[in-house]
Amino acid sequence: MCGIVGYVGHRSAQDVVVEGLRRLEYRGYDSAGVALVAAGPDGAGRVEWRKRAGKLANLEKLIGEEPLPEVTIGIGHTRWATHGAPNDVNAHPHLGNRRRVAVVHNGIIENFDDLRARLEDDDHQLSSETDTEVAAHLLELQVGSGVDLTTAMQRVCQVLEGAFTLVAVDAEDPDRVVAARRNSPLVVGVGEGENFLGSDVAAFIEHTREALELGQDQVVTITRDGVAVTDFHGAPVTPKAYHVDWDLSAAEKDGHDWFMRKEIFEQPHAVADSLLGRRTRTGALQLDEMRLSDQELRDIDKIIIIAAGTSFYAGMVAKYAIEHWTRIPVEVELSSEFRYRDPILDYSTLVVAISQSGETADTLQAIRHARTQRSKVLAICNTNGSTIPRESDAVIYTHAGPEIGVASTKGFVTQLVACYLLALYLAQVKGTRYGDEIADVLHQLEAIPAHIETVLSRAEAVYELARAHVDEPTVLFLGRHAGYPVALEGALKLKELAYIHAEGFAGGELKHGPIALIDTGQPVLCVVPPRGRDQLHGKMLSAIQEVRARGARTICLAEEGDTAVAAIADTLIELPRVPVLLQPLLAVVPLQLFACELATVKGHDVDQPRNLAKSVTVE
Ligand code: AGP
Repeated sequence: MCGIVGYVGHRSAQDVVVEGLRRLEYRGYDSAGVALVAAGPDGAGRVEWRKRAGKLANLEKLIGEEPLPEVTIGIGHTRWATHGAPNDVNAHPHLGNRRRVAVVHNGIIENFDDLRARLEDDDHQLSSETDTEVAAHLLELQVGSGVDLTTAMQRVCQVLEGAFTLVAVDAEDPDRVVAARRNSPLVVGVGEGENFLGSDVAAFIEHTREALELGQDQVVTITRDGVAVTDFHGAPVTPKAYHVDWDLSAAEKDGHDWFMRKEIFEQPHAVADSLLGRRTRTGALQLDEMRLSDQELRDIDKIIIIAAGTSFYAGMVAKYAIEHWTRIPVEVELSSEFRYRDPILDYSTLVVAISQSGETADTLQAIRHARTQRSKVLAICNTNGSTIPRESDAVIYTHAGPEIGVASTKGFVTQLVACYLLALYLAQVKGTRYGDEIADVLHQLEAIPAHIETVLSRAEAVYELARAHVDEPTVLFLGRHAGYPVALEGALKLKELAYIHAEGFAGGELKHGPIALIDTGQPVLCVVPPRGRDQLHGKMLSAIQEVRARGARTICLAEEGDTAVAAIADTLIELPRVPVLLQPLLAVVPLQLFACELATVKGHDVDQPRNLAKSVTVE
């Protein structure tokens, strides 16, 4: 959940590193810092560093006041605090006592207390509360013994436990940047006479789109002339090269005020892109990253979906679709709870891990547990080359493009699409649905982008609604069936963006207690299922009547032409008519717009809400 940049080449390291940090600031913004290697007056090298709590702008202000030397090698860091408060002292980079080695870090060194105690017993003075500073001292001890920084990094990594990406420079070796990774993201950018390191490709994409994927427990050394990778014991490793298929503009805001708003409006394209290439010429479904044989899939007799946050709500929707189309029982479990409940798993269980970032530690540890129980793991992920798909047996990539806003939007709807594709593929392989039934659903999915465009065309009405609720202390959300996870997601969006209390309920659950919350004027957003399944539609109308009778202000999302809802809604948001299982793709959009606009009116930083980070890579 931190952003890391490393550079060595022919450009101004300060410019490359600071700009790279700007592209990564969404990964964490509690503090920022850079360290450069400069030649001293006597020819000896020295590390020059600047670091400051708060956002990158604070660091840039500091550098303006205390300029750095113009050199061509350096590292940088944006922090999401784990150990130690977000202040100047705990900001990265961290250095050893001799100020020879500077290091930046993403992750948690779980045995840092013990290592710190041993260093302090050897008269090392550590000034911060961080685990990272321990690594700086250990690296400095190693290079002080006469080995180069690469060897030092290999040796230090052998004694570290936990999750870490470390990137370091040595004042006495101004030609290399050395990094290591375990359970934490790092990619290499390969240039001409220059090379880059980044937490993800956004750090260097304006300079190169040629990248190298690093594996678990590896050390990488970049110089102006090349890249060398080893394991933690020095054995050479050949990294996998890949070409990054999106350019920097895809990460820009396209004129919107927020990345999040841009990404809400990107959803039609994101859904369309995620459906591309999924059918053979004969119309059969194909999932070319599946990597599990049809027989392995036919042997599946239970599915457990694991995820966190918004991705968990996508999993809840997936349960309805997979069970309906395949008749395979599906459990949906929070990643952070999964392995502690001693789940019942075996080779015939398919564990589906849903993760936009592919780096969520809770989900990563959960799939590792599943694999020890011989279960197959399939990842649904939006980030190519990230850890979770790399450690899974199969992957269905969503093609939402980079999602920069911390609050997930297009990530969610494309996860739904991938879940529907998985369900249909399983139905095709197991024969629980005829080919024409599957083709019909695919045809309905292919119409979704246009339907989302229709919903987006009504955004202004939702914005007006949001502005009218700017002073509300509490907002409630109701939904039934596949609309219930949408209600939960709508509440999460409001919590994480507007910082107000919001809660989602199953419509039928209200009368079992939560209805006591209803008072005069209490806003309740109700996701109404399509007509045609009256036991569901009618029951939802009853729930709306119950809250209205107690003075609630009902804001109803319902399909166009639903006159029964129109008669009892204080505000009606119409949705194009789609089947109940696909309605979440549309119903979530007004809830995203509502939360985005309300947070904007409140003056919040919608892309970087307080206390949050885009990828939570600590458990
Ligand atoms: C979503 O708006 C939140 N930012 C958060 O709940 C997120 O969905 C969760 O942390 C899971 O992230 P992942 O999909 O990258 O694993």
